Amino acid sequence: MANSEYEYVKREFEFDRRLPPSNWIVVRIDGCHFHRFSKVHAFEKPNDENALRLMNACATAMLEKFPDIVFAYGVSDEYSFVFREETEFYHRRESKILSLCVSYFTSVYVMKWKDFFPNKELKEPPYFDARAVCYPNLKTIRDYLAWRQVDCHINNQYNTCFWMLVKSGKSEQAAQLALKGTFAKDKNELLAQQFQINYDDEPAMFRKGSSVYREKVETTVKIDDYGSPIKRPALKVTVAHVDIIGPEFWENHQHILREGKFMHEFVKKFGIDRILPPCNWVVVRISGCQFDQFSLIHSLDKPNDETALSLMNASASLMMEQYPDIVFGYGFNNEYSFVFHEKTELYQRQESLILSSCSSYFTSCYMTKWKEFFPHKELMQTPRFEAEAVCYPKLKIVCEYLTWRQAECHASNQYNTCFWMLVKSGKSELGNII
Ligand code: GTP
Ligand code: MG
Repeated sequence: MANSEYEYVKREFEFDRRLPPSNWIVVRIDGCHFHRFSKVHAFEKPNDENALRLMNACATAMLEKFPDIVFAYGVSDEYSFVFREETEFYHRRESKILSLCVSYFTSVYVMKWKDFFPNKELKEPPYFDARAVCYPNLKTIRDYLAWRQVDCHINNQYNTCFWMLVKSGKSEQAAQLALKGTFAKDKNELLAQQFQINYDDEPAMFRKGSSVYREKVETTVKIDDYGSPIKRPALKVTVAHVDIIGPEFWENHQHILREGKFMHEFVKKFGIDRILPPCNWVVVRISGCQFDQFSLIHSLDKPNDETALSLMNASASLMMEQYPDIVFGYGFNNEYSFVFHEKTELYQRQESLILSSCSSYFTSCYMTKWKEFFPHKELMQTPRFEAEAVCYPKLKIVCEYLTWRQAECHASNQYNTCFWMLVKSGKSELGNII
């Protein structure tokens, strides 16, 4: 129901990661437990031509269904789908893209099973997992595809040798042992000498995997009055088993990985900030960077400099005046944790703005109050504080967090008190550590 009192559960809790703009999106689908699935359905080893053709048919259906997929590459039980760089498919929402792709692929796999295995019953439901990865430029997307094809080559060469050895009578263990530590050249020699097989003569689909893309082809659109065909170039989804590592394929198919055009206001899409989840307590922990050096330069007392700790506390008090949503602060040594109320709307809960303003304000208070606490000590080095934000959904966990920090305080202080008492009594620092 729109705008009901319950609608906030969607508005405030449902966050969908949007994949960053101006990146090629790759969705890689991989068969779940296909080792078992291929056994159950008695796939030929190492390559079952029909199983691979079924995968290719599914990929072809994907390109026909989703025009934003510009290229697909498949091997074994996996398929990678490349979406064009500037796709706005489901507003680039990751979960939508992933689930839809993998679901449609699976659906076609089951539907077409009978076409490729007319005499084999589908004994269990096949299923696939999927992930999405973004590649920002032509080099990285090309390298991704090259990586998959190199993987295909290495696995296929190994598997071809392995199953030839097994089929010739060796046990699987013995075959594995025979191939251990061999290079590509050795495997080719093994195939040639023991089995009179030239690896390069093996089917290209096994060696190169399958590439699916749109190719310009002349198609007959109609027959004219004189019975002659009228042909027009049209894009048709094609499956090829070719080298995609070298430049040649890409030089001849420049339309596939074309870079997107800049659109009006496009740059704004990059400024996506993480929004801290609602109804969570936000803890911002600030800690001094390189404070060992800082305390040495300013000759702070060891292990605790009371004035320096009071300065940290005074800065923390100012923080709490400045940010009324902070309900509690806890500090020791050179760190301070600030607990923001679960309902805080500071900077609309944008993580980077909360973090940066807190660490900046704390630093500023620390420096402006310095003179008050150390009237006879010049501030010789600029102090720096880093900050991180952690979200806790329950108050109980916030309390656990604070307990943990106090336990840390106790442990480090007890150690340091002993350590510096020993040093002050004449022991060297190194001796004490041992
Ligand atoms: P997960 O993906 O982690 O669920 O495991 P998986 O069992 O699917 O293994 P993985 O994806 O790592 O490897 C794919 C497996 O599918 C291979 O190890 C083979 O056992 C099997 N497979 C894929 N294609 C063929 C084929 O053409 N013939 C045969 N016999 N098996 C194949
Ligand atoms: Mg798998």
